[in-house]
Amino acid sequence: MKKITFGTPEEFVPSKFCSGFNYMESDVAFETNQIVFKKVTKGIIIEWKVDADTQVFGFGLQLKRFNFSGYKVITRVNADPVSPCGESHAPVPFLLTNKGYGIYFDTARYAEFYCGRKKVNEEAKADNIATIKTTTDELYAARQLEGMTWMSVFIPHVEGIDMYVIEGNTITDIVSQYNMLSGGGPDVPEWGLGVIYRCCTSYNEEGVRKTAKYFRDSDIPCDILGLEPGWQSSAYSCSFVWSEGRYPNPKKLIKDLREEGYHVNVWEHAFTHPSSPIFDELKPYSGDYQVWGGLVPDFSLPEAKKIFAEHQRKELVQLGVDGFKLDECDGSDNGGGWTFPNHTAFPSGLDGEQYHSLFGTLYAKTMMQTLEGKQTFSESRNMGALAASYPFVLYSDLYDHRDFVRGTVTSGMSGLLWSPEVRHAENKKDLLRRLQSVVFSAQCLINGWYCSEVPWKELDCEDEVRELLKLRKTLVPMLKEAFDCYRDTGKPPIRALVMDYTDDDEVYKIDDEYMFCDNLLVAPIIGIESDEREVYLPAGKWEDFFTGDEVKAGRFTVCTEGIPVYRKIG
Ligand code: GAL
Repeated sequence: MKKITFGTPEEFVPSKFCSGFNYMESDVAFETNQIVFKKVTKGIIIEWKVDADTQVFGFGLQLKRFNFSGYKVITRVNADPVSPCGESHAPVPFLLTNKGYGIYFDTARYAEFYCGRKKVNEEAKADNIATIKTTTDELYAARQLEGMTWMSVFIPHVEGIDMYVIEGNTITDIVSQYNMLSGGGPDVPEWGLGVIYRCCTSYNEEGVRKTAKYFRDSDIPCDILGLEPGWQSSAYSCSFVWSEGRYPNPKKLIKDLREEGYHVNVWEHAFTHPSSPIFDELKPYSGDYQVWGGLVPDFSLPEAKKIFAEHQRKELVQLGVDGFKLDECDGSDNGGGWTFPNHTAFPSGLDGEQYHSLFGTLYAKTMMQTLEGKQTFSESRNMGALAASYPFVLYSDLYDHRDFVRGTVTSGMSGLLWSPEVRHAENKKDLLRRLQSVVFSAQCLINGWYCSEVPWKELDCEDEVRELLKLRKTLVPMLKEAFDCYRDTGKPPIRALVMDYTDDDEVYKIDDEYMFCDNLLVAPIIGIESDEREVYLPAGKWEDFFTGDEVKAGRFTVCTEGIPVYRKIG
């Protein structure tokens, strides 16, 4: 891995806030002197030449596109991306190629990447005038270029950059090194890998107790219960104080839940309500815009972290809470003003654009301080660069099953974890198909936040749900091993096929299959129309995970009501 510095990098970059950052220089084969660096009035441009067949992946959690060759990417935080242009809950300025290298750009700016462009004085290859395109997909598809092309990156507002060139035989090797750069994967407790059910937001203590009893009485596994906004006296923005009406005795509730074998996770966001006991103390350490009438704490400041962490430790952790769901720390253009502007000024000197890129990671860091060494496996709606060591899994309000599976495939390429949660479902088939993908993901989450009953209640499939969640429990020891390996070596527990099989060009477009733990390949069936799908197994010996029958490598069609999973032998 080699760091290359151009110009004068900004002060506020992800590595500055990464406690485990441990760069160690080694030589790389990548010819760093071929990189062209330019300062322009609006920022900087970095360019280098690549073979036209270079495949480009990465850029954080990407729900809408997997292979970015030929496309433009903008690493802009947005909870509601409408097009596959790189915007995401958790974008990361880290690109990976099939040519033995990846590059991490240490910036909190919304950078633009153009993954394959020809310059004006280079040989042109334009479509023949007679080639008439009749669909917009054909019209705007990335064209296959020939010879050499340029990768070009534009980073606004800055005068310089540190880039880290990382090499490896496979993308898994490269990503593992990137993850070790920030201290390796998280330390995850075994219980965190079990089943989490989030209770309806309007429940009171009685509703939560009933849900806890339901799971135990019906012999359906559940390890963590999540409380949604209703636990607080005020939630939009947050008071971080229990609602006396709905939760008169939280201490007793949590004690009882712990005795029944549950861990407890609570929802919150950082926007701090005027009624909160920490409001006045926190105000000088907050940005100059409100969100939902609340403060936006500047978590890059030790003072803000301390005030926030100490209050929640007393109010929640000391009662037994050991998980958090950090909501709304991404921001969207579509919501009614629930996010702070990009020109927000924070007392540390950070601006709103930088803070959007860093918010989730700094928030997670604050909550680790709140937990004071207690293990957790929590959730967040934004994470960013160099965040591998945080035990926080990303989730979304979006709900497209196909996009959710793509998130499982893409997130691991940038040190992130993703939860394709189940909420409501159109029918039994829809619920079970979604749950199958959830069972084979980093976190097994059923988010019933708007469901007055468990979502399968009306769908006549309790037996199938029980069976699937019991299957999840049998996977936990293997997952725990994969997470320990992630912590120690940086190898992600869930990987796109191209990460392990980087030289196999058959996998460059496969964004609906993934490697799970060491040697399982998962190919979820999406949608309710058909029980069939095409599967590709890379070269090697494989068997069906459930039957043990040998399965030949290559492409084939599978038809099942279950989820196709294969084990690589040897
Ligand atoms: C959303 C979140 C949901 C749920 C809801 C509660 O922002 O994504 O999962 O927690 O808030 O109001």
